[in-house]
Amino acid sequence: MDALDSPMTATLGDELVFRSGARAKNRVALAALTNQQSHADGTLSDAEFAFLMARAKGGFGVVCTCATNVAADGQGWPGELGVYDDRHLPGLERLAAALRAEGALAFAQIFHGGARAPSTLTGQQPFSASAFDDPSPTFEKPRAATLAEIERVIGQFRDAARRCCDAGFDGVELHGAHGYLLGQFLSTVTNQRDDAYGGDNAGRARLLREVTRAVRAAVPATFTVGVRLSPEEGGFARGLDLDESLEVARWLADDGVDFVHLSLWDATKNTKKRPEEHAIPLFRAVLPADVRVVAAGAVWTRADGEALLARGADVVALGRAGIANPAWPREVVTEGREPKRAPLTVDELSARAVSPTFSTYLRRFKGFVAP
Ligand SMILES: Cc1cc2nc3c(=O)[nH]c(=O)nc-3n(C[C@H](O)[C@H](O)[C@H](O)COP(=O)(O)O)c2cc1C
Repeated sequence: MDALDSPMTATLGDELVFRSGARAKNRVALAALTNQQSHADGTLSDAEFAFLMARAKGGFGVVCTCATNVAADGQGWPGELGVYDDRHLPGLERLAAALRAEGALAFAQIFHGGARAPSTLTGQQPFSASAFDDPSPTFEKPRAATLAEIERVIGQFRDAARRCCDAGFDGVELHGAHGYLLGQFLSTVTNQRDDAYGGDNAGRARLLREVTRAVRAAVPATFTVGVRLSPEEGGFARGLDLDESLEVARWLADDGVDFVHLSLWDATKNTKKRPEEHAIPLFRAVLPADVRVVAAGAVWTRADGEALLARGADVVALGRAGIANPAWPREVVTEGREPKRAPLTVDELSARAVSPTFSTYLRRFKGFVAP
């Protein structure tokens, strides 16, 4: 029988229990969405609170924050939420409590920008796995991180996760995708180190694994810990190989993750390396059954989401459809309505708790905001 016809396939409305014991009321997550709405010191703003709360009220089983920086020198964008200082705690506590009160699991995505943490924000030259060049006009050549800096970053991820846990979040997602610091170490292009943090796949994955283990050890087993990965290269995620990513996912399961989140951008497509195969079943096959697979990429309709579950995903994460449809789980999954599709006017976005600041940022995503 084709997997697509399998009577065992869950539906989007079904509850999901993570290995941590955390229960999501359905299989629909709001993916991490950078929105540039936080205050300059990284504290939560009312606009960001309202954006996330509208999605919790709309029925998302999991609501994830934007990429939040674990260190002042890891900030990737202006207006980014911070988790690196106790001054961030009151906002994080308010957000976690309110999301949970709406019945959503509250996750924070934690990250360090590495080479993509510009000096205009951090006041210093960025660091990465290695010094490397890039043709993009705003690129700043990073220097290679010292071993002491690597140790510091591991501690910063650990402390950030603990802070999220103390603030009342249900879990964290380590951002290993899209070519930020953890991804820069995974890459054969941006990691040219000849020490224990470079070289073969085990060496390049060492930082991500040490961060994962440090985080896992710092929080209770009931706190959900996952990792977002780009399975193959694309955009800023360079120097990645599908089979190496599968190996990394397996190692992360050994290190105690509750989920692996595949960032696919277009989840209707098969892998580049093996065009006859899709990433979801490949990752599902190498992971223990209780390590959940989350998948994101161009899900708009209920059928799009169900197709990913049928391929073996446990949870479907929405980015753009979740911006356009704050109540996607209720309206599209439960009531069977057609989703609102892009482009949206600024007024339509505003009616969906998207502030003018966020609307401006969204113009970077072609065809999303009406001219
Ligand atoms: C405005 C915007 C901001 C994003 N910010 C993040 C982010 O902070 N962290 C992350 O991992 N992915 C981020 N992404 C990627 C999304 O999480 C998602 O993987 C991607 O948009 C594909 O899903 P979609 O087709 O449902 O939008 C962002 C995407 C958009 C459109």
